[in-house]
This record gives sequence, C-alpha cells and structure tokens, in this order.
Amino acid sequence: MTTAPTQFGGPVLALADQRGGLGGVLRDRLASTVVVMERELRTAGGPTLDLVAYVERYRGKMLRPTLVHLAGLACGGLSPEHDIAAAVVETIHLATLVHDDVLDDAEIRRRGQTINALHGNEAAVILGDYLIASAFHLCSSIADQSVALRVGEVTKLLCEGELLQLHHRDDFDLELDEYYRIIDRKTASLIALAAELGARLAGADDETVRALEGFGRWLGIAFQIRDDLLDLVGEQPVVGKDLGKDLDKGKMTLPVIHHLRNADAGQRASTLGLLERLAHGQSRDRDSMRSALEATGSIDAAKEAAREHLDRARKSLRGLSESPARGLLDELAEEALRRDR
Ligand code: FPP
Ligand code: MG
Repeated sequence: MTTAPTQFGGPVLALADQRGGLGGVLRDRLASTVVVMERELRTAGGPTLDLVAYVERYRGKMLRPTLVHLAGLACGGLSPEHDIAAAVVETIHLATLVHDDVLDDAEIRRRGQTINALHGNEAAVILGDYLIASAFHLCSSIADQSVALRVGEVTKLLCEGELLQLHHRDDFDLELDEYYRIIDRKTASLIALAAELGARLAGADDETVRALEGFGRWLGIAFQIRDDLLDLVGEQPVVGKDLGKDLDKGKMTLPVIHHLRNADAGQRASTLGLLERLAHGQSRDRDSMRSALEATGSIDAAKEAAREHLDRARKSLRGLSESPARGLLDELAEEALRRDR
C-alpha cells in the first residue's frame, strides 16, 4: 500500500507549484521518502504490519521531510541520502506521536482513532519502540556517522523535553523560560534537525548548516506555540485531534502562563481554581478558560510570540544565496502561522 504522493505535503506543495519546477521535485522527493519508510517498516509481518499500516495515516503535512529536502536544495542539491534522512526524522516523529497519545490518553489524531484507543497502551508503547528502532536501523545506512550521532543526540533531547514537561505537571508557577526549554526540546529540536541534516548532506559549510538549524529551531518553537494555542481555542473537527489535553494533563502553555502573570488577584485566584478542577477531571469548562485568556489578551500575546519566532526563523535564511528553495522555506514559515490543524 503506497500512499498517492498528492495526499501529503499539503499547502506547501501548492506553494512549491508556483515556483517553477519545485513542486514536481518536492513531490517526487516526498514520494521516494515514503518508499524508503515503507521499505524499512514493512519488513515486519503479522500484527506489527497491521499496526504499521494503520500508523501511516499519522503522516500528514510531512513538514520534517519537506524541510530536509528544501534545506538540501537551498544548499546545493539532493542525494539519495536525503531520502533516508527524511524517512528517519519522519519515523522518529511518528514514534513520538504514538507515545505522546499514550501519555495524553488521546483518542483522536488525524481525524481517526489513536493506536492506544484502538489497541490499548501496551500495543502503542511497543509500536512506538518498533518505529524508533526502525529509524535508527535506517539511519545506520547513512555513511557519514555524524548524522547518526546527531539523530541520537536529538532523540535524547525529545525524551528530556517530555520528562521536563512531566516534571512540571500541575506546576501553575511554571516560568516562561522553562516553558520555552520544554518546547525547544520536545518539538523544535527535531524540526531543527531536519533542516540541519538537509544542509549537512548537501555538503554545506558549518555556518550554513547552523543557519538552517536555526531556521528549523525558530520555526519549531513557533509551530509548538501555535499547537498550544489550537489546544485551547481550536475546533476539534478542523484540528482533527483531541483538544484541551494540555489542561487535562496540567501542562502550562504560553497563553496560560501569560494570563496568570497579567490577571488581577481575583481573576488569578479564579483561574487557578479552574486549572485545578480541569487537571483533576472535575471540570471540562474550556469556555470559561477561553474567556479568561481573552480578557487578559493572552491569546493575542501568544500569537504575537509565534510571529516573533517566525520572524527570527526567516532572518536565519538571510545569509543563504537566493534560490527557489530558499524562497519556499521563507513562505513555509508564513504558512506555519496560518495553520489551523
Ligand atoms: C507532542 O506534544 C509531543 C511531542 C512533540 C514530543 C513527544 C515526545 C515523546 C513522547 C518522547 C520521545 C519518544 C520517542 C519515541 C523518542 P503535544 O502533546 O503538545 O502535541 P499534540 O497536540 O500533537 O498531541
Ligand atoms: Mg499530545
């Protein structure tokens, strides 16, 4: 079962189509990335193969493989190892989603049931392990060992980010710096790695590799701020996954942190009470939370923070020579702000 190439890539492919032959190149590269992934994951039989076939529906916008390929193109060109690196980062991403849905008790992702909802936590944990093992197996076929080293380092960071987040569960005094530390590790590090590997495998010099890594990092932070906003104010049928999970799990995100700092004493006390009830399953009153956040301008403040990080991402590209791929990276950053799912 190979997914038709037109089903992934989303709005970025439409933007690429406006840039000469870039749409065709990107479509082909995403298709070959999928072939590499399927070849790696479908060596399994029996129940593993059934689960792998199902989890492929988690593959959505393919943001990370798109970044590997665009970074490569912006730095001089692509090789077959770009497809492997793209498949590695996407497979790690799938593994984190499968495990994250267990941690969040999530039932819906990409408009369908999660693995844990369908098959239970045990199957989901082991499937996540299978995916992560597959990613490392695949990565070992890349000749340049520094790639495996970086993939290992970043995967450790993802786990550190999640553990740090868990450590701060129900911590209503979470500092902004610590929030940024969490999202930098759990989300931005892998997006940064995608852009870094694209550049590295194209033979870019250290400064260019750092610029692309920086682009991915700021984009990743903006991406997670947007994700955190959608969790609070998104519409479930549009977003296609369970919302309100952050509050259910006592995770403080940027709008809530901003609100608690800017509310007057009475409002703060009332919000703290609501946060306690939400985190302990005694309330599902997300509407009151939304109204409270709006009253202190905290939704707009988080949107502004996402915008600032995207501007930083775009500035990181300044040193690169002009190319259609560089132009598309720039547009991709704008697209990340517009996303509603
Ligand atoms: C989504 O956050 C979660 C992540 C970006 C990272 C998850 C990482 C782990 C579970 C640990 C590492 C796991 C492996 C297999 C290496 P979210 O809950 O805010 O996003 P969501 O809204 O998409 O659920
Ligand atoms: Mg989650």
